[in-house]
Amino acid sequence: MAEIDMKNIVKKYGDGFPAVNDVSIDVQDGEFMILVGPSGCGKSTLLRMIVGLEDITSGEMVIGGKVVNDLAPRERNLAMVFQNYALYPHLTVYENIAFPLRLAKASDAEVDEKVRAAAATLELEEHLERKPGNLSGGQRQRVAMGRAIVREADAFLFDEPLSNLDAKLRGQMRTEIARLQKKLGITTVYVTHDQTEAMTLGHRVAVLKRGLLQQLATPRELYEQPGNLFVAGFIGSPPMNFLPATVEGTSVKLPFGSVEIPAEKAEKAAGKGLLIAGIRPEHFEDAAVKEGASGSASTFRAPVDVVEWLGNETYAYIPFEAPPEVEQQLRQLERDLDGEVLHTQLVVSLDGKSQIAEGEEAEIWVDGTQIHLFDPTTGENLTVDRERAGRIPEGAETVSAS
Ligand SMILES: Nc1ncnc2c1ncn2[C@@H]1O[C@H](COP(=O)(O)OP(=O)(O)OP(=O)(O)O)[C@@H](O)[C@H]1O
Ligand SMILES: [Mg+2]
Repeated sequence: MAEIDMKNIVKKYGDGFPAVNDVSIDVQDGEFMILVGPSGCGKSTLLRMIVGLEDITSGEMVIGGKVVNDLAPRERNLAMVFQNYALYPHLTVYENIAFPLRLAKASDAEVDEKVRAAAATLELEEHLERKPGNLSGGQRQRVAMGRAIVREADAFLFDEPLSNLDAKLRGQMRTEIARLQKKLGITTVYVTHDQTEAMTLGHRVAVLKRGLLQQLATPRELYEQPGNLFVAGFIGSPPMNFLPATVEGTSVKLPFGSVEIPAEKAEKAAGKGLLIAGIRPEHFEDAAVKEGASGSASTFRAPVDVVEWLGNETYAYIPFEAPPEVEQQLRQLERDLDGEVLHTQLVVSLDGKSQIAEGEEAEIWVDGTQIHLFDPTTGENLTVDRERAGRIPEGAETVSAS
């Protein structure tokens, strides 16, 4: 068991491109840490530097209190579980799990004891004499993890282990990995570009964009207090809505009308001119369903374009237009988020009881306490509560020109 402390890690590949740029992440002993971000943000590079498969350009990698920058992978005692589990098809499950012990010339008695203990933890006892080809995807993954367990590694490292699986199996495997990690209490670093995996698995999540750490926080902190536009747009599904906004007193003027927000939020955004308001779809409601909402300072009327009724909830789409400054920032954000669509339409998630109809004007209530206000130039969240936002590194909010 060990903590993994990454201190100002930089990785420049041959062409001088900083794939990882001054990233500091402290993974506690027994913690489940997620590295998440769009394609090319440097997740795999960072993981490979932890294991020792990639040189570190500068900074310190400290594992269990020891600087490991110059140690070879096998001297670091970490177990990496790859996307394809690399099981030996001609060996039984037993021998697949035993493999690292056989390599280390362990005695038959030791092998047997460790393999059986791992198989018990993983509930693989009845499959020990079978071949991997006859197992389900989930069982195969457990075999791969068994191999990591018998090595008594100090930490588990995963690089998108579920990306090859279909949606249903992915969900099952996610639960299984979470359960196992809890049972074993082993330090784990897990790379994914899937925000659902990040939210459900991680004790803490490190959000990366183009080699820069954007925010390091618990899933709840990321959801409730995103440090900038990028994190706000990345975490949550359907994604947060972004609207042009100006603040006057304690009201926020949005394309459809004005909404009251708490005074302390309004203060932080006062005198800043045109801003971007961020509101999650679930923080809206049909005023007709929400008791006492109709005609209040937190409702507005808007034309509904499309309605999707799902039974338990209703999505309604409301088109709007944004001024060029905001439009440009949102386009950049759309590129940064790797195709997550953020058209200039508002998506609201309403109660399934809502009778809102397509082509009609609806009265919509919005929870003013949940509105975020972002600086359209830097992307910084002006209204973030830094006490409850984990760590937001200096300079993370700066929008990189491209
Ligand atoms: N061997 C290499 N030589 C040069 N550049 C590289 C090399 N490997 C990765 N890169 C660059 O480093 C950056 C980060 O790559 P990395 O593989 O870490 O991204 P990632 O976040 O894992 O993305 P994905 O989700 O697509 O796997 C990318 O811009 C990539 O082009
Ligand atoms: Mg990768």
